[in-house]
Amino acid sequence: LADLPIGVFDSGIGGLTVLRALERELPDEEFLYLGDTARLPYGTKTAQTVERYALQAGGELVRRGIKCLVVACNTASSASLPALRAAFPTLPVLGVIDPGASAAVQASRAGRIGVLATEATVRSGAYERAIRGLRPDARVSSVAASLFVALAEEGWTEGEVATPTARRYLGDLKALAGDVDTLVLGCTHFPPFVPLLRSLLPADCAIVDSAATTATAVRQCLADYTRTPAPGPMRLLATDGIERFARVGARFLGRPIGEAQVERVDLTAVV
Ligand code: DGL
Repeated sequence: LADLPIGVFDSGIGGLTVLRALERELPDEEFLYLGDTARLPYGTKTAQTVERYALQAGGELVRRGIKCLVVACNTASSASLPALRAAFPTLPVLGVIDPGASAAVQASRAGRIGVLATEATVRSGAYERAIRGLRPDARVSSVAASLFVALAEEGWTEGEVATPTARRYLGDLKALAGDVDTLVLGCTHFPPFVPLLRSLLPADCAIVDSAATTATAVRQCLADYTRTPAPGPMRLLATDGIERFARVGARFLGRPIGEAQVERVDLTAVV
């Protein structure tokens, strides 16, 4: 079991930001990443659909052999953790929302927390529940920032399109919640917007995302396993075109991805 890879699943390429943090935190581990690019975005879909997709993705990774499953997608974490845990009862399954919530609570002075996420994550109320579970007096307000997903994939994370878009989302948050002291990036695609958001927010507003805290949670969960040396190279699976996955994914992983590293899989064959 110790020699099996850690399975990481996302709706597409955004979860590569989480994979990057996992690699940094767990350099002796092997990773098997699946991006369901054929069906992205998850963030505009219903919880039932996202749950069904997540079970198929989890099933594919389990069939290939993994020792733990990291749901790197916020939308899938908000919709499918109970179903995944029920389907794979012996497998540790970790999402990104609880780690993101704990990062927010650690960063927040006054408990006034804003969340930017996809429409589905906002609708689920998952961040509110997780944050208030840790800090019951927190005031949590969430805004769907759906356009950020496409902008991040385009590489437009600042400039003439991204700046007014970010202003609009932050304006919506301010209208809802007033000034927040902490902003949670509750979507895999949002970390590239940090410099822009930083320039638009008051200097004392903290910005947190769940990548690093998720990696720490995975390390704690695997504390019992001892990894043998010389892990194999990271393996990547995608449900749609490999060229785009490698090209756009490189931006999220922070280094080039060779097309030969990516294998195409068909999840519709998985029950
Ligand atoms: N991975 C998704 C998330 O973190 C964003 C992209 C999508 O909508 O599928 O919510």
